[in-house]
Amino acid sequence: MTFKPAEWPRKLRSQEWYGGTSRDVIYHRGWMKNQGYPHDLFDGRPVIGIMNTWSDLTPCNGHLRELAEKVKAGIWEAGGFPVEVPAFSASENTFRPTAMMFRNLAALSIEEQMRGQPIDGAVLLVGCDKTTPSLLMAAASTDLPSIVVTGGPMLNGYFQGERVGSGTHLWKFSEAVKAGVMTQEEFLEAEQSMSRSSGTCNTMGTASSMASMAEALGMALSGNAAIPAVDSRRRVMAQMSGRRIVQMVKDDLKPSDILTKQAFENAIRTNGAIGGSTNAVVHLLAIAGRVGIDLTLDDWDRCGRDVATIVNLMPSGKYLMEEFFYAGGLPVVLKRLAEEELLHKEALTVSGLTMWEEVKEAVNHNVDVILPLENALTDQGGIAVVKGNLAPAGAVLKPSAASPHLLQHRGRAVVFEDIDDYKARIEDDDLDIDETCVMVLKNCGPKGYPGMSEVGNMGLPPKILKKGITDMVRISDARMSGTAYGTVVLHTAPEAAAGGPLAVVQNGDMIELDVPARRLHLDISDEELATRLAAWEPTHDRAPSGYAWLHQHHVEGADTGADLDFLKGCRGSPVGKDSH
Ligand code: FES
Repeated sequence: MTFKPAEWPRKLRSQEWYGGTSRDVIYHRGWMKNQGYPHDLFDGRPVIGIMNTWSDLTPCNGHLRELAEKVKAGIWEAGGFPVEVPAFSASENTFRPTAMMFRNLAALSIEEQMRGQPIDGAVLLVGCDKTTPSLLMAAASTDLPSIVVTGGPMLNGYFQGERVGSGTHLWKFSEAVKAGVMTQEEFLEAEQSMSRSSGTCNTMGTASSMASMAEALGMALSGNAAIPAVDSRRRVMAQMSGRRIVQMVKDDLKPSDILTKQAFENAIRTNGAIGGSTNAVVHLLAIAGRVGIDLTLDDWDRCGRDVATIVNLMPSGKYLMEEFFYAGGLPVVLKRLAEEELLHKEALTVSGLTMWEEVKEAVNHNVDVILPLENALTDQGGIAVVKGNLAPAGAVLKPSAASPHLLQHRGRAVVFEDIDDYKARIEDDDLDIDETCVMVLKNCGPKGYPGMSEVGNMGLPPKILKKGITDMVRISDARMSGTAYGTVVLHTAPEAAAGGPLAVVQNGDMIELDVPARRLHLDISDEELATRLAAWEPTHDRAPSGYAWLHQHHVEGADTGADLDFLKGCRGSPVGKDSH
């Protein structure tokens, strides 16, 4: 894409607050001077907001204040004026009922922070799963020049000489304890080994996937995604990004220049190649909705279908993000996609260069981590979108994390009405279930939970685990942690709490999953389905007031990104009135 930089110098939006001699300007500028800023800093140079999702309760982002100092250094060096702004931070591992319920609230609050304050451009300082999409959504809606800097993944975990992946081994170890092959004491001993340093999950979970999405979309400098949090090069990346955003403001290089349909197609294919998280589906759909790009679930299936997964990282493979970085990181993957004609080479990036210009010199330093095509983990690594009378608007499954023998399966439904019902009955030895059954979990979607929790990879009953069986077909309207695995059908839409067909599945119904045919079928007649749907009444209105109410009443389906209906679209960044 050809981008024509704007003329410089010109008047920036921050001058509406800081430029001139009016009473209002003296009021705004004078208050800033109580921090000791010299007068000439208000001379029209770019004011850059460092939107920082640091929080002690988001430990994945716990080092971002330190990293912000490097961003500031870069901004100063390039002649900008950095201002650090605390941004809503929803930790995946802490926030209840689920961090996903707050992705849209974070996006809303950050959008208004960007629009309502004297900011000409923004550095989006993010890391944990929801922080990356929420800030990207905000930037897309304001369309102010923005650049993503992620905090980077933790170092490899090790326990008893083996690699331990964030999340992935939490699920594995907890099932090993239930199966009686690991002691509770060993599980506790393994706890510290999972989190050896600052940073985000060290697997190709949602945080690493979204860092990769930001880079593949062109919204982060090349190479950003994989650098470990504690590597000195992470700090260099922060400083370089600080320098770059100042020039982006001068050039007026905006998210809408970068976030094109081609950019989203690049990101979808990249997600297939890295074996990325199913969560990327809802996040990219939501970001696209903020810039008015017509991106659908069908695009996910179309673009991802023929992409081989070549990144050998957990949960699909065996290595971790540290090794991905040493192997060359995402630029190697993007170059490979380009060589296969699966990348829009001309897509613009925040550097002002095209994607191809950024990645063409990338070198693979470890072919066991970034695999040659002939050794790919799977030939069809993209997200599979299945449809049928059980999911008229679609549901998703990650083939690279599923068991091949279950990708075509017909089984008897064992139904859990909600997560509480599941928790109450799953360990009951009298539960009528065997490994050929299909586990069905309802009322965990965007409205139902509320917030669409990561409970779709529900653990198997202990009596089945004890037989050495580790996977069964599971279907829900929930999400799944990007660090998880299994033959798990997720995001079923419309969701149960909105009266989708999932709501009327009954124990004993037969369900057919055929991933190669992209089909998910409830084996009852059309008449029977219509009768059940007509008799259905909502049972999961759990949010009488507050933000939860707002969310439950305005959230859209997972098939369109689960954004709030009134937040979709780009509202720009016009400077509002001052009331003084
Ligand atoms: Fe925060 Fe994984 S839980 S990055």
